[in-house]
Amino acid sequence: MFDNFPLWPDRASTAAGNVDALFIFLLIVCGLMTLLIFATLIYFAARYRHRRGVLAEQIEGSIPLEVTWSIIPLFVFMVIFAWGAVVYFKSRTPPRDATEVYVVAKQWMWKLEHAEGQREINELHVPVGRDVKLIMTSQDVIHSFFVPAFRMKQDVLPGRYTVAWFRATKSGTYHLFCAEYCGTQHSGMLGSIVVQEPAQYEAWMNGGTTGPLSATGEKIFAELGCVTCHRTDTQGRGPTLQGVFGKPVLLEDGRTVAADENYVRESILDPGAKVVKGFKPVMPTFQGLVSEEQLNALVAYVKSQSQPTGPGTKTSATAAPQNEGKPAGSQVQ
Ligand code: CUA
Repeated sequence: MFDNFPLWPDRASTAAGNVDALFIFLLIVCGLMTLLIFATLIYFAARYRHRRGVLAEQIEGSIPLEVTWSIIPLFVFMVIFAWGAVVYFKSRTPPRDATEVYVVAKQWMWKLEHAEGQREINELHVPVGRDVKLIMTSQDVIHSFFVPAFRMKQDVLPGRYTVAWFRATKSGTYHLFCAEYCGTQHSGMLGSIVVQEPAQYEAWMNGGTTGPLSATGEKIFAELGCVTCHRTDTQGRGPTLQGVFGKPVLLEDGRTVAADENYVRESILDPGAKVVKGFKPVMPTFQGLVSEEQLNALVAYVKSQSQPTGPGTKTSATAAPQNEGKPAGSQVQ
């Protein structure tokens, strides 16, 4: 209905319709409220205008009136709250079997690396109809990954990962903006999201790669000597990393934390922060020794150690669906 309305950007993701519907609802509520206020204002101004010899009569208040104008807005606000919460949680929760792309922002460019190994700058190729999870961090200051056509915006922070996801519904090229002021060339920190049909995407994917990101990570893991302590058996000085990712980890101080991307990242940069139960804080920090890209590769490697089928199983858009009861992108199209 609004597809040709130039005030709205393209709708190219599954989230776009939901966000717009909520936005239009808010617009209508605000519009009606404004009309009501102005109409009443004008009516009262005319009806109770100053007349010679007529004095205003003091009214002490009206319980029914006050209850009405409290209950009705309360109801409207609760609708907005519930609706907003549903849209928000949906947009904040990446589907479990999403394709993963690591994003490193810096002044002033976007560096993107697919889990399959493809690297891109200021451009991200994705297939139509597939969930894509972005694992993002910044090399310097705060940036923000904003794709209006996907109704998706997420701050990208130095020192930790933030996550966002989308599922593109329409092939085409869409704007990627940095939406957080990050220095003199902030306005030039632009990119594009290239959404392709699965076959096209497959062809693009096969056009030269350095191998899966997890394989790069495995190499770094060996080079840095991590493998001497984090062995695959239980004899190492560090905990084994097999099957750790995504599971709860019991710590030396009694806490239990989830082994997510941020946990792995912190354990590499600040190993003393969360020591696994039964181990000593002997691991040195790798702060300053590994770049953001290498960190991402290491995270991808640790992650791959928890996939029963091993690394590199989700290598293409048309790979057989191995997700639990959810159709893969290639089947949707
Ligand atoms: Cu990066 Cu603004």
